[in-house]
Amino acid sequence: MMHFTNIYNAIKNASEKPLETHEILSGYSGEKLLATLMNLSRYNLDDDKVYLEVGVFQGLSLLSVANSIGNNVAFGIDNFAFFDKDGKNESIVHSRIDKLNLKNVRLINQDYEDALENLGEYIGDKKVGVFFIDGPHDYRSQLMCLLLIKPYLSDDAVIIIDDSNYRHVRQANRDFLQTNNDYKLFFEAYTPSHPDNMSKVELEQAKHGWWNGVNVIVRDGHHQLQQKFPSTFRNRTLYENEHILHTAKYPTLNLKLSKYSRFLGNIIRIFPKYASMEKGKYPASNTYSEDLCEINFTQDL
Ligand SMILES: C[S@@+](CC[C@H](N)C(=O)[O-])C[C@H]1O[C@@H](n2cnc3c(N)ncnc32)[C@H](O)[C@@H]1O
Repeated sequence: MMHFTNIYNAIKNASEKPLETHEILSGYSGEKLLATLMNLSRYNLDDDKVYLEVGVFQGLSLLSVANSIGNNVAFGIDNFAFFDKDGKNESIVHSRIDKLNLKNVRLINQDYEDALENLGEYIGDKKVGVFFIDGPHDYRSQLMCLLLIKPYLSDDAVIIIDDSNYRHVRQANRDFLQTNNDYKLFFEAYTPSHPDNMSKVELEQAKHGWWNGVNVIVRDGHHQLQQKFPSTFRNRTLYENEHILHTAKYPTLNLKLSKYSRFLGNIIRIFPKYASMEKGKYPASNTYSEDLCEINFTQDL
């Protein structure tokens, strides 16, 4: 149980102490989340265990961790296909590595699925002691990240899943936990909405806090902990609708039309049949996290 108490303390301390951020680093993450990644990595890595993240962007989380773990190694996977209009993110990461004089960062410029399927080519005999998921947020990718990393995790690994405010991200976490009882939900923290939909005051709090929500899952091969699940929505219609999208004549056109969903929704709702159609609170990035707890350690230690 000592291991889990140490994980508890790493997260608790991260949520209590203000984080001193490095002036070279910027990106998308809450300070408490960053401090949690750094504390867990300082605690759980050694010569045989590395840090790995999916979703590097310009390196805020990867380099913050690398800067705090001495000679232990931090790997980051990103194909730099998103949030990178000018194609500069990879070079920004490299120039920040130089400025911070970091020798322990390994960048894998690949799609996450290709990289995770062949992870042994990069990490060799080492295991992943801390795994941070912050890449593509569709349900399948979230679940695949959890499934593909399994053979590479150390026995005492910790997994941190960013953007767990999103209902479908929580669903992927739940589905993984439901089918893999060696893994337990350890901690969850949520904010009321995606940062894009926050007021200025809320945004400031999210920057100092948990950004777009987080779930922490621990490996528990000896079944010492209780199984708990993040809150989800029993109705499966949206997942079932995926079949219609996959088999449509113009599947990507449907996606483009979703840009106009507010406008189309307003018209369609004139018809009684559609009046009670489910409606998100915001034009985009609905998380359905407004009624969730702020923070929750799920285990009695
Ligand atoms: C929210 S950003 C990550 C933020 C970062 N952790 C930070 O600290 O600033 C998400 C990243 O995931 C990457 N990404 C999205 N889909 C991907 C995929 N299929 N394979 C690899 N990386 C992907 C994007 O290129 C983007 O840089």
